[in-house]
Amino acid sequence: MHKPNLLLLLGFGATGLSQHGIQVPPQAQVIDQRSFNSLQIVAAPSVADGFAQFVPPGTTLKRLLARPFHVYDEDFLEIIGPNPTLTLLNHTASDPIFHEAPVWYPAKDEMFFVQNAGARAAGTGLAKSATIQKISLSAITPAIASQRNASGSVKVEVLDSYPTVMNPNGGTNFRGQLLFLGEGQGESIAPAMYLMDPQPPYNTTVLLDNFFGRQFNSLSDVSINPRNGELYFTDPTYGYLQDFRPTPGMPRQVWRFNEATGVVRVAADGFNMPNGITFSPTGSHVYITDTGMTQAFYGTNFTSPSTIYQYDVNEDGTLVNRKPFAFVTPGVPDGIHVDTKGNVYVGCGDGVQVYSPSGKLLGKIYVGNAVPNFQFAGLGRMVILAETELYYATLAAEGAFPGALYYPPDAEG
Ligand SMILES: *[C@@H]1O[C@H](CO)[C@@H](O)[C@H](O)[C@H]1NC(C)=O
Ligand SMILES: *[C@@H]1O[C@H](CO)[C@@H](O)[C@H](O)[C@H]1NC(C)=O
Ligand SMILES: *[C@@H]1O[C@H](CO)[C@@H](O)[C@H](O)[C@H]1NC(C)=O
Ligand SMILES: *[C@@H]1O[C@H](CO)[C@@H](O)[C@H](O)[C@H]1NC(C)=O
Repeated sequence: MHKPNLLLLLGFGATGLSQHGIQVPPQAQVIDQRSFNSLQIVAAPSVADGFAQFVPPGTTLKRLLARPFHVYDEDFLEIIGPNPTLTLLNHTASDPIFHEAPVWYPAKDEMFFVQNAGARAAGTGLAKSATIQKISLSAITPAIASQRNASGSVKVEVLDSYPTVMNPNGGTNFRGQLLFLGEGQGESIAPAMYLMDPQPPYNTTVLLDNFFGRQFNSLSDVSINPRNGELYFTDPTYGYLQDFRPTPGMPRQVWRFNEATGVVRVAADGFNMPNGITFSPTGSHVYITDTGMTQAFYGTNFTSPSTIYQYDVNEDGTLVNRKPFAFVTPGVPDGIHVDTKGNVYVGCGDGVQVYSPSGKLLGKIYVGNAVPNFQFAGLGRMVILAETELYYATLAAEGAFPGALYYPPDAEG
C-alpha cells in the first residue's frame, strides 16, 4: 500500500495535528522541499555559497530556530518521538570550547569532549593544547531538559590528563576506557592515539604515534570495526592548515590499526580531507566524511568535497565499493554517528542532519550554526557541540556504539 505523503498532508512549516491525525511534536516543524525547488531568483554562487544558511521563502531564521526539529521525511517522526527537546546548556562569547571528540562514559554517565585545537579565538595552536572537558548527564534533570535555554545550569569541568593528550580531536569508547586521537603540536610532538583512564587523575597510555617511524599529519577521528575490533582512523592535514603542525609528510588517508597484533596499514585513500568516520551498527558499512571544501586558515574551495562516502566492509576488514552517500550543505559533514537502526547522523553547518541508511535526508536538529561533532548517550539522549554553544537533545532514537565493547577472541576476562 502506498504510504500517505506526510508533506502533502501538512504543507510547509505546519505544526500541531495534521488533518489526517499525524502529530508533529511542539518542537518540530515540517519542511517541504517542493516549496523551494523553483525559486525563480537564485542568488549567485558568491552569495549562496557552501557556508550560507538557507532560509526557505515564507519562513525566517527565527522560525527555523523556534522549532528546531525539522522534518523532511515522515520517518524522522519515529526518530524524534512525540516530544523531542533541545536545550542550550552553556555558551561562550567567542571561545570555541565545545568542539570535538565527544565520548560518553556510561559507568558514570558523563560526556567528555574537547576544545578547538587550532582556533585563533581559542588561543590554541603552538601556544597551548586543546583541553578535555566533561559534563555529568545525570545532572541534567527533566526540568532542565524541558527548557530551551538552561545556560549555566550544568557544570562544565576542565580536566588534566597525564601525560597530556596533545590537541585531542577525535575519540571513542574503547573496552570501558576512553580513546582519544591527538593532532600533535609543532614538529616534535607527534600526533598520537591515547588510551585514557576515565577516572581521575586521567592517566593516559600512547597506543600509536607513528607509521614505521614517520609522523601522521594530524589525526582526526576514529571508529571501531565491530567485526574485528580494529581502530579505523582519519588523518587530514588540518594541523598544518591551522599553523600548528609542520608541512605534511603523509597522504591524507584513512588508516586501520590492530592494537592486538600491532599491524598498521592504509584502509582508504583518494580523499581531500578525510574527517569523520563511523561504522554501521553491524559493521557491514563504513561512512567517512570528506571536508575538503574547508582548508582552515587557507580558505575554502567550493568545488572540493563536502561529502559523506560509504564503503562496503569485507569480512577481512578491507573497504570496497566507495560511493557518495550524501553531499551536504551548508558547511561540511564533520562528526558522524549511527543509531541502532542504521540511520546516519552528521554534524553540518546548520546542526545535526539525519540521513536514512540509503542516504536520504530525513530531518535535522537545527541550531543555525556549525556542529563539528555530537554524541548519543545511549537511548534518547544526545550532546551537541556547536563551538561556542553546548546543547543537550532528547529524542526517541538510540545511539549505536559499533565495536566499543569488542574484545579480541583470545583476550582474558
Ligand atoms: C540564554 O540564557 C543566558 C543566561 O540567562 C543568556 O545570557 C543568553 O543570552 C540566552 N541565550 C539565548 C540564545 O537565548
Ligand atoms: C558555562 O560553564 C561554566 C563552568 O561550569 C560556568 O562557569 C559558566 O557560568 C557557564 N556559562 C554559561 C553562559 O552558561
Ligand atoms: C597515574 O599516573 C601518576 C603519575 O605517573 C601515578 O603516580 C599514578 O599512580 C597513576 N595512577 C593510576 C591509577 O595509574
Ligand atoms: C579547487 O578544488 C578543485 C578540485 O578539488 C581543484 O581542481 C582546484 O584547483 C581548486 N581550486 C583552487 C583555487 O584551489
